[in-house]
Amino acid sequence: NGAATKGSKTRDIVKTMEESDKNMVIFYGSQTGTAEDYASRLAKEGSARFGLKTMIANLEEFDYENLDTLPEDKVAVFVMATYGEGEPTDNAVDFYEFIMGDDVNFTEGDRLGNLKFIGFGLGNNTYEHFNAVIRRLTATLLKLGAKQIGNIGEGDDGTGTMEEDFLAWKEPMWKALQEEMDLEEREAVYEPVFSIAERTELSVEDDTVYLGEPNKNHLEGGSKGPYGANNPFIAPIKSSREIFTVKDRNCLHMEIDLTGTNLSYTTGDHIAVWPTNAGKEVDGFLKVLGLEEKKDGVIDVTGIDSTAKVPFPTPTTYDAIARYHLEICAPVSRQFLASLAAFAPTPTAKDELTRLGGDKDYFQETISSRYLNIAQVLELNAPGEIWSNVPFSLMVEGLNRIQPRYYSISSSSLVQPKLVSITCHGDPEPDPHGLSYAITGPRNKYDGIHVPVHTRASNFRLPSDPSKPVIMIGPGTGVAPFRAFVQERAALAEKGERIGKTLLFFGCRKASEDFLYQEEWKEYASKLGDSFSLITAFSRDGPEKVYVQHRLKERAKEVNELLAQGSYFYVCGDAAHMAREVNTSLGSIIAQERGLTETQGEEIVKRLRSSNLYQEDVWS
Ligand code: 2AM
Repeated sequence: NGAATKGSKTRDIVKTMEESDKNMVIFYGSQTGTAEDYASRLAKEGSARFGLKTMIANLEEFDYENLDTLPEDKVAVFVMATYGEGEPTDNAVDFYEFIMGDDVNFTEGDRLGNLKFIGFGLGNNTYEHFNAVIRRLTATLLKLGAKQIGNIGEGDDGTGTMEEDFLAWKEPMWKALQEEMDLEEREAVYEPVFSIAERTELSVEDDTVYLGEPNKNHLEGGSKGPYGANNPFIAPIKSSREIFTVKDRNCLHMEIDLTGTNLSYTTGDHIAVWPTNAGKEVDGFLKVLGLEEKKDGVIDVTGIDSTAKVPFPTPTTYDAIARYHLEICAPVSRQFLASLAAFAPTPTAKDELTRLGGDKDYFQETISSRYLNIAQVLELNAPGEIWSNVPFSLMVEGLNRIQPRYYSISSSSLVQPKLVSITCHGDPEPDPHGLSYAITGPRNKYDGIHVPVHTRASNFRLPSDPSKPVIMIGPGTGVAPFRAFVQERAALAEKGERIGKTLLFFGCRKASEDFLYQEEWKEYASKLGDSFSLITAFSRDGPEKVYVQHRLKERAKEVNELLAQGSYFYVCGDAAHMAREVNTSLGSIIAQERGLTETQGEEIVKRLRSSNLYQEDVWS
């Protein structure tokens, strides 16, 4: 749809680098955009500080048979996210399989003796296979004779330290690279990756101007499928209701209608909802940059050289870019702030941004703990001033792209194949990205009852044989996919299928406040009979906290017996604490019931995981 791939592009990375005179390529394996963002940042920094000729490369856009012919004066960086149970991201699968293959063969043999590489991994320590992809890739590259430069960095999303892990890794890495390539550090020079050109002959009325499609198409009635990750469907919200019975917190049950589209789902899948920045945020952002008057002026954004890909279609407008494409509402990063210092409108603001860039604790205290976004920080550091010296290209390059938010679907595809339910927290304060805000908050371009969506397959699956027992752990909104599971099993029971034991552990604060789907469970119980048990843990109803894992332990005997019968075990919800503690508790239960040591119990849990009997759908 007009994205910036011009003409037919070569898949030859060596040729691409030679022809565009690059000496550093940063490959990324990215699922939600973080790895891609880090890759861009490394590219910018390499060129600004060391005069490197950098490019970033989506791993799926190149072939790797000739990686052995990458000349020695070049360096390859791998920024690789690990996904799920130690898997590479979708865009890295082909590369990963190729390079890890038993009989990998390159143009000139089976070695990578020429290759110099650097690595950073993005992972989540909550998972067993923490950063497996970068670890295995590194081992493989070394085995093939490649030369590693600097240490391999490992970012941890589980503890929420990803950004600081990245910052801490990259300084020594640059030092090592400087030595290896004999690079001089210079006073950082901003080298734009994109150029911005005004197209005064065009206006927003012109058909060729992109104004946040597919929203525009939808509004004009010209929306067309097939829909998917690159073309979300602007879906009607069929219904939405509050399901907490307490005033100060909320949770919405929403039904999104996919009728008439190619979009479908299977019980256990996710739905992606595309956020749009709220008008107030867009206006504030454009204002502080001095672009308020020009916001609907048409501009072209183009790559300075052919390897730079513009992340959205152009010609477009400042307004459309800020509204639909840039993550302007997210907390701002330390490194990005530092890069703006050179363009500050006052010496005080310049000093302040420089200080923030260099002092992690000060940054944490004054900026990150308050979740300030870019416009807020600029405004705060130069009250009333306009930051008109900041090149807009720097915003496009330095801010993340808006990414869809994923929700676990809380309905069964068997029961309602084209109607997707979600169960999500409302926002305590208007979070401009929260879904409920997207729907009930002040809207600009939607009509308030539609959201752009696409569906995404997951590995979270009921056993294909419904007579198999299942144990589900889902406190809070973690119950979402289990509502789908129970709904599905109840429907199968109605059809006369034999349903295995269905144990659901649900936890919330108080029975009278946030007991999700309290009435519905009774309905399902009447269809499932004895096979269904709902076990609740109300953490704030009694003198002591009771959590789902405590209830699990109380049922140790039954849980162990079900596992022995081949029961599936599912956990959904908070990754950092709950899922980890449930994992540990299950190990103890198995150890205790089977007379084994704790370590043996843990081993059995690991085996359950690797045989897919223990499945997680967790978030941090
Ligand atoms: P709390 O907020 O009273 O501590 C859904 O959020 C439920 O999960 C709440 O009852 C919450 O309890 C509980 N919860 C909080 N931390 C938890 C943990 N580490 N393990 C399991 N449940 C937890």
